[in-house]
Amino acid sequence: MPAVGGLDALISVTYDIVANDFVRAGEAASKIKRLLQQLGVEPGIIRRAAIAAYEAEMNVVIHSYGGRIAANITADSIEILCEDSGPGIPDIEKALQEGYSTASEDIREMGFGAGMGLPNIRRSAEEFSIESACGQGTRLKVKILHKVGD
Ligand SMILES: Nc1ncnc2c1ncn2[C@@H]1O[C@H](COP(=O)(O)OP(=O)(O)O)[C@@H](O)[C@H]1O
Ligand SMILES: [Mg+2]
Repeated sequence: MPAVGGLDALISVTYDIVANDFVRAGEAASKIKRLLQQLGVEPGIIRRAAIAAYEAEMNVVIHSYGGRIAANITADSIEILCEDSGPGIPDIEKALQEGYSTASEDIREMGFGAGMGLPNIRRSAEEFSIESACGQGTRLKVKILHKVGD
């Protein structure tokens, strides 16, 4: 039985993310979370997907020129894709380290910039990939399985 009741088709949603818009920041992740709740996804899975979507969205708001986030939901998994138009991450290994952040003092005063976003996204998902380069955009992809091992 699928963990999502009666769902075997793909449901996809995509939202634009505007750089430095702290009024709307987090809205896309909230909408994805609400959709998963409406679909009856297991709360623990929703929590992990919501963390990944929120941290990915905030990174685009804070660190990028803007982009978009998509959620592709099937009976087996929730895939979250987040891409932006730059400026990219020069050293991905470093960016993945806990506590590493290039956030400005202003951003830190708003309560962001703990450097735990990417590590928490990676922890929340069964599959994680990030593609980026200096001067190019960043493309983050995570997959969360409704159920592992059957
Ligand atoms: N979409 C992005 N575009 C450019 N740089 C990014 C992006 N996402 C993350 N980074 C870089 O990776 C670092 C670590 O990200 P993260 O772990 O989410 O911590 P934080 O957002 O708190 O700084 C950021 O400080 C930034 O330098
Ligand atoms: Mg972050």
